[in-house]
Amino acid sequence: MLIRSKRGWELPESAATPEAVYLSRRAVMGAGALMLAGLASRPAAAQRVADVPDPSASLYPAKTNPRYTLDRPVTPEAKSSVVNNYYEFSYGKNVAPSMGRFQRRPWLVKIDGMVEKPQELGIDDLLKKVQLEERLYRHRCVEAWSMAVPWTGFAMKDLVALANPTSGAKFVRMETFLDPKVAPNQKDFRYPWPYVEGLTLEEATNELAFLVTGVYGKPAPAQFGAPLRLVTPWKYGFKSIKGIVRFSFTDKQPLSYWEEVQGAEYGFWANVNPKVPHPRWSQASEEDIATGNRRPTELFNGYGEYVAALYAGRENQKIWY
Ligand code: MTE
Repeated sequence: MLIRSKRGWELPESAATPEAVYLSRRAVMGAGALMLAGLASRPAAAQRVADVPDPSASLYPAKTNPRYTLDRPVTPEAKSSVVNNYYEFSYGKNVAPSMGRFQRRPWLVKIDGMVEKPQELGIDDLLKKVQLEERLYRHRCVEAWSMAVPWTGFAMKDLVALANPTSGAKFVRMETFLDPKVAPNQKDFRYPWPYVEGLTLEEATNELAFLVTGVYGKPAPAQFGAPLRLVTPWKYGFKSIKGIVRFSFTDKQPLSYWEEVQGAEYGFWANVNPKVPHPRWSQASEEDIATGNRRPTELFNGYGEYVAALYAGRENQKIWY
C-alpha cells in the first residue's frame, strides 16, 4: 500500500519543530516585534494568546477506564468548578473570576534532576507521547469536603518512564508556574511560592497516580489546574498540585508547600485517615460539596487495595498528614 507522508516543508512550523524550540523562538520574535511597534502592553498580548484554540481539544473525550468506579454520583461540574483551591489566584473558593490573565498555552514542562537526559517539552508534544484516558476518582480535601470527578489524563508512571530517572533517584519534586503578573497572590511574601509538592518514586509509579489534563470530557478549565496537574486520590487534595511546569527527580525528600507554611499541620505524606484528626478538626467524616450531606471518611479515601502496601509497617509513623 502506498502511504503518502507529508514532507517537512508541508508542515506548519509548530508541527515540524519540537514545541519547546518553536515556543522559545516565537517568544523572542514576539517580544522583539512588540518592542519595535511600541506595543508591549500585556492585555494585547494576552488577548492574542487567548484567541488560539486549544490544540488538544480533539483528544477529548477520552475512553473511560472501567477499572476505577465510584460509590457515589459524579459531582456536577456546576458545583466542582466553583469550589476550588488555587491560592495563587484567590484565598476564597470561587477562583475562576480571578484567573483572567491565566493562559493554558504556551506551556513548557521541564524534566530534570537525577534523570538520564534532562528535557523540556511543550505540553502538546508531551500529549503526543502518552495515552489519555478518563478515570472517575473520589477527591478528599484536608478541609473535610469531598467530590467525585471524571478526570482525563495519563498514568504518572508513563511520565516517570519518559524521564528515565537514574538509579539513585527516590523522589519526584513538582513545581507550579511562577508568574506574579498572572497569579496575583504570588506577590504575597507570606507564602513560599512557587507551590511545590513531592511523591516517592513508588507513589509516583503506583497505578493510581494520575497526571490530569482534562475534566468532564474536555480540556481542563483553568481553575482545575490546567493544563497539567497531579491527582493522587488516596491523599488529601493539597498533594494534587496544579499548573505543573517542572518535575525534578531527586534523592532528597522534597519540602512541600504546605509543609513549609505550617509543618505542624500538613506533612509530606498526607494519606487520608479518618482516625487521625487534623490538629484543629476531625477527619472522621466529610461534606459532599454537591449535596451538603456528610459521609464517613474511609482509610486511604477508600483506595487501600491499591496503595496500603506502599506504607506497610509504617502505619504508626507520621504518614497521615
Ligand atoms: N495547587 C496549586 N498550585 N495551588 C493550590 O493552592 N491547592 C490544593 C491542590 N492543588 C492548590 C493546588 C488543594 S488544598 C486542593 S484541595 C486541590 O488542589 C483542589 O483541587 P480542585 O480545585 O480541583 O478541587
